Amino acid sequence: MALIAVDIAGRPYQVHVGDGLLPNLAQYCQDRLRKRVVPIITDANVHKHWGAVVEQALRDAGHEPAWRILPPGEQTKSWAELAATVDWLLALEVERNDHIIALGGGVIGDLTGFCASILKRGCHFIQIPTTLLAQVDSSVGGKTAINTSAGKNLVGAFHQPSLVLADLDLLATLPRRELRAGYAEVVKYGLLGDAAFFDWCEKNGAAMLAGDQALREEAVAHNVAAKARIVAEDEFERSGTRALLNLGHTFGHALEAETGFSDRMLHGEAVAMGMVLAARYSARTGLMPETEAERVASHIAAIGLPADLASLGLNCDGKVLVGHMLHDKKMDAGTLPFVLMKGIGVAFLDKQVDLQDVSAFLDQQMRVSATA
Ligand SMILES: NC(=O)c1ccc[n+]([C@@H]2O[C@H](COP(=O)([O-])OP(=O)(O)OC[C@H]3O[C@@H](n4cnc5c(N)ncnc54)[C@H](O)[C@@H]3O)[C@@H](O)[C@H]2O)c1
Ligand SMILES: [Zn+2]
Repeated sequence: MALIAVDIAGRPYQVHVGDGLLPNLAQYCQDRLRKRVVPIITDANVHKHWGAVVEQALRDAGHEPAWRILPPGEQTKSWAELAATVDWLLALEVERNDHIIALGGGVIGDLTGFCASILKRGCHFIQIPTTLLAQVDSSVGGKTAINTSAGKNLVGAFHQPSLVLADLDLLATLPRRELRAGYAEVVKYGLLGDAAFFDWCEKNGAAMLAGDQALREEAVAHNVAAKARIVAEDEFERSGTRALLNLGHTFGHALEAETGFSDRMLHGEAVAMGMVLAARYSARTGLMPETEAERVASHIAAIGLPADLASLGLNCDGKVLVGHMLHDKKMDAGTLPFVLMKGIGVAFLDKQVDLQDVSAFLDQQMRVSATA
């Protein structure tokens, strides 16, 4: 079991990483559950697998869960679900000092966190992340959001949880494709600032994905600690430190947009491909040795994540992909900051990237099967 502190000024909180947390939920939440009724927001898949465990844990401690079970999937992060969920919380008479529980992946965490940020001008919430992506990334750091017709995550708030319980046992029921997609965010921490951790990924990534619980704990705890440091330094993404977490995301966002934010490409899969593109683009501009960029691509491919743009069968050119990038919420006064690399573990924010060159690079990547 690992315990990681997120040292946000005025609102520090802890992240527990380990197994067997869910059955002992009430004990970990302690006096945060002030009332008999505990509001829990989840999705139907998670509820099917883990609802009974939560139900038992709360009832044993004298609580009664009030469930809100939403449809699984990205479309749940909507204005409509936000409004309906806030109304549901109001009907439950949730007060500002109460805690709402988010039991799910990034979709449930983002929606619940946003509800908590606006309910009576802000109430508390507890994150119980159930996907690898949510455990290593979205449940920590306080970014919450919904999607609108103009794009993904365009409306939201910074609102930190007051506790995060990352129970590794929950990953047992996660579909393999989702698990693998979440692994992209794990590799990201190595690439952005921790070359030794990238070595660890090359050595242990496959075994971790195959189910080795000790390796999972090591990876999740290591990543949460890295994210905690970054968030404590730059909670509101102002100084540029937190922006490094967007490594692979600008290229990835374009791929997600081009594939319609659909099951054709999961977020983590797009990020994996995006990190390979960021590495290769860094090599193209002479920032990073090509051998290092290809080392990134080899590891991503070895894990079974996309590392070859040509093989994705996209029916578009580089210009179209760059067009998607221009709708990225990271746009800043007409420029689009890119996270590039000077080497594995040495990421930095480049605000001077030439988008025409990016477009030409993408055209070339779409023609050449680079890993062949
Ligand atoms: N707030 C942040 O900092 C942040 C960071 C990264 C991503 N995100 C957001 O997170 C979302 C993606 O999150 P995600 O990848 O966790 O996806 P998700 O929440 O959609 O979950 C993926 C799928 O797995 C299912 N599932 C979840 N846990 C399960 C379990 N234990 N067993 C079986 N099935 C399970 C879900 O029902 C869903 O079908 C996106 O909306 C993204 O924008 C937010
Ligand atoms: Zn991501």
